[in-house]
Formats: sequence, structure tokens, C-alpha cells
Amino acid sequence: MGMLDGKTVIVTGGAQGMGRRHVERCVAEGAFVVATDLQAAAGDAVVRALGDRATFVQHDVTDPTGWDTVVAAALAFGAGLHGLVNNAAVYSGTKPIGEESFETFERTMRVNVHGAWWGITKVLEPMRSGGGGSIVNISSIAGTTGMPGFSSYGTSKWAVRGLTKICAADLGPAGIRVNSVHPGGIAETGMYSTPVTDQDKEQRYNAVPLRRAGSVDDVSSLVLFLLSDSSSYITGIEHVIDGGSSLS
Ligand SMILES: NC(=O)c1ccc[n+]([C@@H]2O[C@H](COP(=O)([O-])OP(=O)(O)OC[C@H]3O[C@@H](n4cnc5c(N)ncnc54)[C@H](O)[C@@H]3O)[C@@H](O)[C@H]2O)c1
Repeated sequence: MGMLDGKTVIVTGGAQGMGRRHVERCVAEGAFVVATDLQAAAGDAVVRALGDRATFVQHDVTDPTGWDTVVAAALAFGAGLHGLVNNAAVYSGTKPIGEESFETFERTMRVNVHGAWWGITKVLEPMRSGGGGSIVNISSIAGTTGMPGFSSYGTSKWAVRGLTKICAADLGPAGIRVNSVHPGGIAETGMYSTPVTDQDKEQRYNAVPLRRAGSVDDVSSLVLFLLSDSSSYITGIEHVIDGGSSLS
């Protein structure tokens, strides 16, 4: 028996990185999955390898009308709608406030925050009418501390954390749980720069009590738990997954 048997889940940004692994692992655990992304060829390739329990919709998370198509694709599996992983995001590097452009700030907020807001807004009716659901918003450890240079990405991830708590309070009575996940550096993803030299590695991993980068499977395991009924009394909480790097 799979952790997600009988459930239908939407994963945004599912063409690569962590999102791709969430799509693969949700299907492996028995879910029907709609993967979405801007990247059509890569997204199609991900679902093609997974058989008829997964489908891909090319979609920009900032497009509200496109969200209706995504939700319709989920409902077309005929099993209701139980999960949403707001994973798609952009990161444009760091610059101190004063040097950061408004264009970067605005675009980062639009994709990372408006995109998640639209997703939550569009899934809540089908989830409510089905008796509940689980929404997992991917934030970052940049949404837990005041990291220098992160006025765009970090602010967006703090907003995702706040949106999570507020929606958890609003939607709890409908049986819809909302949690945020806060990864540290996760290897083999678009937003992680792999340390190259021994000196880089030593410097990077010495700051992590578990002395390594996270893996996409580390994060997927947490996301699957939060989507599943095993976490049925957990809502509105930030789940940090960073090998202990934010302990000090
Ligand atoms: N990689 C890390 O070390 C790390 C650390 C902390 C948090 N995170 C967060 O985890 C999540 C996944 O990160 P990743 O590194 O695997 O990402 P990634 O860059 O590998 O993939 C992100 C995907 O999102 C898609 N995307 C971007 N803008 C989109 C839009 N407007 N509409 C739809 N899709 C869009 C991209 O095409 C891409 O396929 C993100 O929310 C990120 O902020 C990542």
C-alpha cells in the first residue's frame, strides 16, 4: 500500500530539481499527479516515464486562468483533489538592498508569492467539497532568518511562510492543512551551486552539522509525509530541512 493511494496531487515546477522528484515519488506512492512547469519538453519527459497516473500541463504559476486548466486536469483523473505542492520559484542571486533592482524584487514576489497564493485560491473549493486536503508550500531557510543580500528571494520566502500560517488558520475548519517546508542547500537542483574545490566543500559543509548538502529525496520524503494522512494533525508549521545548518 502506498502513502498516497487514492489521492490526486498537483506539483508546480515539476520539470526538474526537487519538483521532479516530488512528482516521481508521489506516483510511486500511489497518487495521480499533475506536474506543471514553464518548461514543456522537460515536463513532458518527466510524466512520460511515469505512465498514465501522471500528466503534464505547461503553466506559469502567475497565470490565474491557467490554474483553472491545471485543476481541471487534476479532477479529470476522477478521484477528487487532495494535495498541492507550491514548489515553482525563481532565484536571481543576492545583492544588498540599494543595489537590488525593483524588477528582480517584483518578479520574484510575483512568481514565488503570487503563484502560491493563486494555487491555494484555486484548489480550495475542490478540496473543501472533497472533505479536505493538504497544501505544502516550499519556502527556504532564507524565509527563517535575515540573510544579507536576500531582499528579493528571502522576502518572498518569508511571505510564503506567513501565507502558510494564515491559510492554515482560514482553511483548518474545512479540513485543509497548510504547511511550509524550508530546505537548506539541496544538491542536484537548479538553485544550488555545487562546491567545486576542496576548500569550497570544507567551507560549505563545515557550516552544516550533518556535513553534507541535502538530497532531493530528503525533501521529497518530508513533502510526501505532509501530503499523506500520517501528518493529519499537523498544520500551519514551518518544517526546516537543512542538516542543522540554521541551528546557530
Ligand atoms: N535548491 C535549493 O538548494 C533550495 C533551497 C531552499 C529552497 N529551495 C526551494 O525549493 C523549490 C525547488 O527548488 P529547486 O532548486 O529544485 O528549483 P529548480 O530551479 O531546479 O526548478 C524550479 C522549477 O520551477 C519552474 N518555474 C520557474 N518559474 C515558474 C513559473 N512562473 N511557473 C511555473 N514554473 C516555474 C522552472 O522552470 C523549474 O523547472 C523552490 O521553491 C526553491 O525556492 C531550493
